[in-house]
Amino acid sequence: MNCIRLLALICFVTWRSVQTVQAFGMMTPSFAENVPNITVVAGKDVVLPCVVDNLEHFKVAWVRVDTQTILTIHTKVISRNPRVGLAQSSKRHWYLRLRNVEPSDRGYYMCQINTDPMEHSKGYLEVLVPPNIVDSGTTDGVVAREGSNVSLSCRATGHPEPNITWKREDGSEFIYNGVAVSAVESEVLQLTKASRLHMGPYLCIASNGVPPSVSQRIPLKIQFPPMLWIPNQQELAYNGQDVVLVCHIEAYPKSINYWTTAKGDMIISGDKYEAVSSDDSYRVYMRLKIRSVALADFGAYKCVAKNSLGETDGTIKLYEIANPHTTFSVTTMTIGRQTSTETAIRHAKKKERKRARPNSKRNNNNSPAIQNEVTDDNNHGDVVEDEAPQPTSGPTNYYGTVDSREQHSHSFATSTSFTSRQCCFTNILICCVAYCFIVRQFIASFSV
Ligand SMILES: *[C@@H]1O[C@H](CO)[C@@H](O)[C@H](O)[C@H]1NC(C)=O
Ligand SMILES: *[C@@H]1O[C@H](CO)[C@@H](O)[C@H](O)[C@H]1NC(C)=O
Ligand SMILES: *[C@@H]1O[C@H](CO)[C@@H](O)[C@H](O)[C@H]1NC(C)=O
Repeated sequence: MNCIRLLALICFVTWRSVQTVQAFGMMTPSFAENVPNITVVAGKDVVLPCVVDNLEHFKVAWVRVDTQTILTIHTKVISRNPRVGLAQSSKRHWYLRLRNVEPSDRGYYMCQINTDPMEHSKGYLEVLVPPNIVDSGTTDGVVAREGSNVSLSCRATGHPEPNITWKREDGSEFIYNGVAVSAVESEVLQLTKASRLHMGPYLCIASNGVPPSVSQRIPLKIQFPPMLWIPNQQELAYNGQDVVLVCHIEAYPKSINYWTTAKGDMIISGDKYEAVSSDDSYRVYMRLKIRSVALADFGAYKCVAKNSLGETDGTIKLYEIANPHTTFSVTTMTIGRQTSTETAIRHAKKKERKRARPNSKRNNNNSPAIQNEVTDDNNHGDVVEDEAPQPTSGPTNYYGTVDSREQHSHSFATSTSFTSRQCCFTNILICCVAYCFIVRQFIASFSV
């Protein structure tokens, strides 16, 4: 009897202890750490870890949260996606591997343990995508008329959303909303009243912090009719001298440029003439060298520029001066001649100015930089006019689009003549006063 009791007690104690061991020793599975958030660049491989303690006979599964799809259960890959797999998993470490990650893989991934209730931990997979320029409708470049509004646009994809920055290819500044800037951050580069100074290649640069940044080159071409500028409208030369006539042209599309004589005959380079021109984007520098000037060479020359939008021309006059190297009675002869030449030049200049406008066949807006130049040269030109003739620095004249020049010269001329008239007036006044005084004295002497 006692024996049976003892046996029962032993049984009970054993059972209890087994229960205790089950309760304390055989603990339920738990996550050693949460599934982390991971950021990866598209195209790379990624491994998501799930670390479980006390898994025992339970099983781990990986689940894609957004689609509620089971990717793996225990050591078995369920997903049909060939890029999904498990990497060197152990009883404690369960690694979900995604090869060649795509933007569509972005989202939450959950590690589950099939306890009751279910244990789970989830982490977010961020997939970064470097920028890519997609809208390349303007790769060939944009062509617009000067003065029109131009917009260059560029669209890019990427994650995060890329920023678009516009720059000139050479990094120089350009006018944007009336301000000189070196970069503009906007999908569309809106240039109001585009000028020839805007011409050139632009880069649209897309960046989102994921290297590499990408750029696209978009050339901008601004069309305008030819405009020309002659630094010296009068050239002076003596018999036998070589002389060079210079003409600056701006035009886009590129103009056909040539020199003609007063009669309109085109000048061809040869023994007598040497016509050269060099260009830099829309600017052309034309030079005509006349070798050993003879009597027949004095007179007018024209430089002509034509493009599809119009044409213009300008005249340079070649005047004869005495040869400064002649030794015989140089002084008197030279002075006498120069004076008459000067007068002739002045008359010629007046005519020239009047002609400057009608030569222009259209009216378009000048760039601000050029306008400034005009105003400056204006003053210089007029000052030079009243000095002794200088073969190299005559007045500057613009053709085509210059409005301010004529008015400036006029006002200067008026003020000059006003000064001389004022002087004359003063003389008369003094005479009058003197006369009155004498008359008064005369009358006074009588009345005494
Ligand atoms: C992962 O990101 C989410 C928000 O996107 C955040 O709530 C969570 O705490 C992050 N988890 C970890 C492990 O950093
Ligand atoms: C150009 O843009 C300006 C400012 O946005 C606007 O005032 C002007 O009317 C536009 N001109 C043309 C020709 O569209
Ligand atoms: C994009 O532009 C925004 C606003 O200008 C700025 O806060 C952000 O830092 C820029 N991102 C990059 C990647 O340059």
